[in-house]
Amino acid sequence: MKVLLVNGSPHRKGETYNALSLVETALNEKGIGTEWFWIGNKPVRGCVDCGKCSKTFRCVLLDDACNDLIEAILKSDGVVIGSPVYFAAPNGALCALLDRVFYAASTHGGLFKGKPAAAVASCMRSGANSTIDRINKYFSFSEMPIVSSNYWNMLFDTQSQMGTDEKGNKTMQTLGYNMVAILQK
Ligand SMILES: Cc1cc2nc3c(=O)[nH]c(=O)nc-3n(C[C@H](O)[C@H](O)[C@H](O)COP(=O)(O)O)c2cc1C
Repeated sequence: MKVLLVNGSPHRKGETYNALSLVETALNEKGIGTEWFWIGNKPVRGCVDCGKCSKTFRCVLLDDACNDLIEAILKSDGVVIGSPVYFAAPNGALCALLDRVFYAASTHGGLFKGKPAAAVASCMRSGANSTIDRINKYFSFSEMPIVSSNYWNMLFDTQSQMGTDEKGNKTMQTLGYNMVAILQK
């Protein structure tokens, strides 16, 4: 079994990557494989509501990672999507991408139905909960069971004045273990 880790930050190896890596360690420890998908830092188009995806279940806009991400999720048993917090919301480029990914695959096709999913936010100080809630909307629209931890899935970044985020580290680990438990059921 394999879980896809989606890094929704423009930084390939930044704080969102660090948060997802902690989930990865827990998954790997329990024998679950992982694959990474970084959304990059190139322009991402928003949905133009052309409606073509109602027949193809793929996006007509081909100059970014949208359709590659659909394929990567389809090949995975579960998915964890991480984002930096930008003004108490996910990165705008990530939302632009996910609007199209989930509109094409889920609104029309139900392609992701049944795949366990989780959202993770990396923040300097606050806004993680609204960020996680926003990402969870994609999952709850798509009949994807949302995996939780024993706290909200947030990690303070190393620039924050919060000190070492031991609680955040543990939250990521527990999230990984809970993803394994759901996958094995
Ligand atoms: C445009 C912008 C807006 C941000 N807004 C917030 C915010 O509302 N709350 C917060 O705690 N951090 C905010 N941050 C900080 C980042 O969320 C934080 O540094 C994050 O850990 C960066 O993750 P990354 O290294 O994966 O990109 C913002 C950063 C940027 C660039």
